[in-house]
Amino acid sequence: MKKVKELYEGKAKKVWTTEDPEVLIVDYKDDATAGNGAKKGTIHDKGIINNRVTNHLMKILEKEGIPTHLIEEISDRETVVKKVSIVPLEVIVRNIAAGSLANRLGLEEGTPLGKTVLEYCYKDDALGDPMVNEYHIMAMDWCTKEELDLIAEYSLKINKILSAYLKDLNIELIDFKLEYGRLSDGTIVLADEISPDTCRFWDSVTKEKLDKDRFRRDMGGEEDAYKEVMKRLLGE
Ligand code: TMP
Repeated sequence: MKKVKELYEGKAKKVWTTEDPEVLIVDYKDDATAGNGAKKGTIHDKGIINNRVTNHLMKILEKEGIPTHLIEEISDRETVVKKVSIVPLEVIVRNIAAGSLANRLGLEEGTPLGKTVLEYCYKDDALGDPMVNEYHIMAMDWCTKEELDLIAEYSLKINKILSAYLKDLNIELIDFKLEYGRLSDGTIVLADEISPDTCRFWDSVTKEKLDKDRFRRDMGGEEDAYKEVMKRLLGE
């Protein structure tokens, strides 16, 4: 599969068309942004790590019955994926209070939540991805009730699968963000990425942050943290 034309350049990835109208190539960059683009930088080899970590986790999810957009990794930074029309929602799954939830509810980061929390944000950079609920989603017709029920079911199942898998690698899955899309026949599949950019990963023992919070919060050590995640997941 060969790249034909650049379709879109996002903050962390470029997307290319191919000869097949149903197939795209995603190209992961080292560029990093935080605070809706307010902070910009690069994390050396992030594109390689996020490409490989995403594909590794999506393969695990596929085996467990979660449909994804993944077709095939073709290089360190490039992956062939099924073309989808994105459901304009960021689905956030939380196990432990951190980040914006900790701020919003005045909880100390690291406080366990009595129950897994699902949140939805409307994907719109100009609006700063505002949080919305099921009523907004239905009112704005961003997806159907059936699609949203399936998205919620998949997201909770993904949380169970990934939390258990990562626990064995001494990684605590604090929270993460998912995106879904529709194939041309309407099938809902998991899209985008699952990586240290889009998840909070804490070392189970030391509680050290192994994710993009190191960059967001100017803590330093983000390159080593991303490398450590790749090493634990892929053994290299
Ligand atoms: P938050 O605590 O800042 O709302 O983030 C929750 C999780 O979602 C965290 O793992 C980071 C991830 N996330 C993204 O991947 N993209 C985003 O735009 C936001 C706001 C969060």
